[in-house]
Amino acid sequence: MSVSPTEAPGPAAAAPSSVQDVADGLRSVGYLPGESTALVAFLATKLGKPVLVEGPAGVGKTELAKALATFLGRELVRLQCYEGLDEAKALYEWNYRKQLLRIQAEASGTGWDAVQEDIFGEEFLLARPLMSAIASEQPVVLLIDEIDKTDQEFEAMLLEVLSDFQISIPELGRVESRTHPIVLLTSNNSRELTEALKRRCLYLWLDYPELEHELEIVRLHAPDLSETVARRLVEVIGMVRELDLKKPPSIAESIDWARALLLLGADDIDQQTFNDTMSIIVKHRTDLDIVVERVGAKLGGPLGAGT
Ligand SMILES: Nc1ncnc2c1ncn2[C@@H]1O[C@H](COP(=O)(O)OP(=O)(O)OP(=O)(O)O)[C@@H](O)[C@H]1O
Ligand SMILES: [Mg+2]
Repeated sequence: MSVSPTEAPGPAAAAPSSVQDVADGLRSVGYLPGESTALVAFLATKLGKPVLVEGPAGVGKTELAKALATFLGRELVRLQCYEGLDEAKALYEWNYRKQLLRIQAEASGTGWDAVQEDIFGEEFLLARPLMSAIASEQPVVLLIDEIDKTDQEFEAMLLEVLSDFQISIPELGRVESRTHPIVLLTSNNSRELTEALKRRCLYLWLDYPELEHELEIVRLHAPDLSETVARRLVEVIGMVRELDLKKPPSIAESIDWARALLLLGADDIDQQTFNDTMSIIVKHRTDLDIVVERVGAKLGGPLGAGT
């Protein structure tokens, strides 16, 4: 059976032949990968194994899947996980309303057998992301985002799908994958994933980037911000991350801060600017107090004078 993709993908790129190819490809679509990111992404395209990407919030886990899909010219099929997610929302479900309408429209003399044959056809099936990815005629990138939000039962079901790449529908038969999707699973570590899942995946730990790497990312997203302010920004972000905070600022927050400073026309990050804008990077009441005391004060001192 066929389930057509919802979004048209871009032109399909030739399969990457080296780690460097993947690194260059990701860069070309605006994602600046670290070394291990490019390596694992390359292996995923070659070995056909799913990749489990773990790391703190906002370090580019979801974005990696998007960038990989764009670079490879594949459609991105996304399954956003949440507590209580079930098979009906992940695999497929029957379109009951449409089935009901069909039953009502049938002539009253039609026997149950004839109706049943009719209403359990492909036309009445609602394909959800896992099914779409498996049934797609073109190879896709399948993003299973925030898998740690689901329960272990769901994980077990997923394992089955990921090992066979097929789905059995009792009334309709088996749907087998014709093309092999690249699968990325992301997790924020809100619960420990099962060993069974980990064993089947390649593993990528994404952490806060090194200073120079983050500077490059910030400059990519806020190209008009001066080099001096951008460098200062990532230095300060680094200082803030060293504190023992509930929620250290992520790359996403660095980018937001850079854009805000640009809008405000800041030409340096002094104590005043920092205090005015730090709620962009620190979002807990208690964290704010710690940051004002430890970093804000430093910016007012010799560090603020540009040393
Ligand atoms: N290596 C990178 N190159 C370019 N942009 C990046 C990179 N890493 C992160 N970003 C940017 O950081 C932002 C946050 O990334 P993303 O949404 O992928 O985070 P996440 O790890 O999925 O976070 P969460 O766990 O909260 O879902 C995005 O806007 C993305 O563009
Ligand atoms: Mg994400």
